[in-house]
Amino acid sequence: MLKTYVITGGTDGIGKALAHTYLDRGQEVVVVGRSAEKGKAWLDAARQRGAAARAHFIHADLSLLSQTRAVIDSIRSAFAKIDALVLCARHFRTTRLVTAEGFENTFAHFYLSRFLLSHGLADLLQSAHTPVILNIAGPGGEGEIHWEDLQLARGYDGQRALMQGGRLNDLLGVAFTDARPETRVRYVLLNPGAVDTGFSGQYTPDVRAQIDVIRRSAQPVRAAIVPIVKVLDDPPLTPLSAFVRDVPLSPHGPAFALGEARRLHLLTKTLLDN
Ligand SMILES: NC(=O)c1ccc[n+]([C@@H]2O[C@H](COP(=O)([O-])OP(=O)(O)OC[C@H]3O[C@@H](n4cnc5c(N)ncnc54)[C@H](OP(=O)(O)O)[C@@H]3O)[C@@H](O)[C@H]2O)c1
Repeated sequence: MLKTYVITGGTDGIGKALAHTYLDRGQEVVVVGRSAEKGKAWLDAARQRGAAARAHFIHADLSLLSQTRAVIDSIRSAFAKIDALVLCARHFRTTRLVTAEGFENTFAHFYLSRFLLSHGLADLLQSAHTPVILNIAGPGGEGEIHWEDLQLARGYDGQRALMQGGRLNDLLGVAFTDARPETRVRYVLLNPGAVDTGFSGQYTPDVRAQIDVIRRSAQPVRAAIVPIVKVLDDPPLTPLSAFVRDVPLSPHGPAFALGEARRLHLLTKTLLDN
């Protein structure tokens, strides 16, 4: 049966490789990305493969909540069910940037948009046979959550923002399953390890040079997606699971504390309601 995959950040790196994989398998794929040019390249490639009818592009900057909400509306108006939501959009910022809506950029696109998409599409996923949300970030990471300053107004650092974002996504997974004890949707958190991708970001020359070094010894994308495709094809039976590459990680360790997940969930809802 035809399955529908929604992939954010599907215009580059891991997301792009997954989009092409599932299109080539005959599935329906919705790519969400902020580059019109890369979106056109995706649609052109699909057309060349004779798969134009199954390839979709939604142009959106996911650092803006208004655009994330418009993505949800657009998917809801076009599809009655989705089988997989794959969250890959990520952009590194050396300097702190506040969006036009007043949120710190990393917090907004790496956490808030994933929160909105996960909860906002949950019922469409529930209609699928073996639905899965795959949140690709950095589960089990050692970043610190700055509870009193989640948007790092004081002491912003790009790496700190990203590491904190990984922790927030872990708690998003915990809170998602906590809020839906009856759900069939599997929430999977996955760290792909170092992968030679686009590394979308605003970097200083020094950091860019460090990234170039990391990329030279990182896994190629085609190898990195092997365990990811495995999880998407055969999601774990438990509501919440976590992996580092293909190695399972307990989703019950300190990084996945239920009390913290509930605290973050409430804080997030308050932020989004204001
Ligand atoms: N690569 C690694 O070594 C590594 C390691 C650990 C975890 N991960 C995780 O893996 C996931 C995929 O990363 P990747 O390495 O494949 O990244 P990538 O190659 O840099 O691709 C990121 C994608 O996200 C898009 N994007 C960025 N900001 C966006 C926004 N505001 N709105 C919409 N789309 C946006 C980018 O679009 P543009 O190209 O237009 O910017 C691009 O398509 C991320 O969640 C990342 O945290 C990666």
